[in-house]
Amino acid sequence: MNQRLWTEVDGYLAHHLIGADPILDEVIASSERAGMPQIHVSSLQARLLRLVIQLHGGRRALEIGTLAGYSGICIARALPEEGELTTLELEADYASLAAANFDAAGVKGKIKQLIGPAAESMRTLISRRAAPFDFIFIDADKASMPMYLELSLKLSHPGTVIVGDNVVREGRVCDENTDDPNVQGVRAFIETIGRHPRLSATAIQTVGSKGYDGFCLAIVN
Ligand code: SAH
Ligand code: DHB
Ligand code: MG
Repeated sequence: MNQRLWTEVDGYLAHHLIGADPILDEVIASSERAGMPQIHVSSLQARLLRLVIQLHGGRRALEIGTLAGYSGICIARALPEEGELTTLELEADYASLAAANFDAAGVKGKIKQLIGPAAESMRTLISRRAAPFDFIFIDADKASMPMYLELSLKLSHPGTVIVGDNVVREGRVCDENTDDPNVQGVRAFIETIGRHPRLSATAIQTVGSKGYDGFCLAIVN
């Protein structure tokens, strides 16, 4: 483990590959002022989401876990002009800061926010027969990841890409005796994807400014 080096390398890569982004800097500053947890994706990770969406060419995205809107802005930027992101958040005060940040970033017109427990919002979307999503980013409470996966499949079509964040958790994912419900949730998420006949997936371990964690990327067949 060498957190200092990982952070330094993240800084180098972000400086050269991403560059300055005052809008996203202000999203982070606003969430610090509001005393919110600093658990947004890193700029390099957000760029990966953007590249995946652009490579895939989807126009309807779903995000589970809005926080202050950092990843949501990056997802919205990746979508075409007529694209739409639906983002789900439990905490009303987080969602209202995110709304202000979406406006400041100029992506408000592409984003629908649903407030409340994400599983309830997803069941509402399913019961209203919402059009399926092309891209789904699962990044809320980790214990519920298996449920979000099951509901995501009901909001998917063949070709939908599903990305799950935080699937390595400093390596704890491979502890089969864990009593941490977050790690248990991540393990059930990975193992369900692995067994699922319609899903083809990989996971990428990451180190960087956010420590040691990882993404799982799956496609619905
Ligand atoms: N995607 C964001 C980070 C999300 S952090 C980014 O990278 O910018 C996780 C978020 O999930 C937090 O805002 C938290 O309030 C929210 N959350 C936790 N439990 C939830 C639930 N049951 N339903 C909806 N959102 C939830
Ligand atoms: C944490 C990190 C995340 O990226 C997230 O989505 C939720 C929690 C954390 O480090 O606690
Ligand atoms: Mg996360």
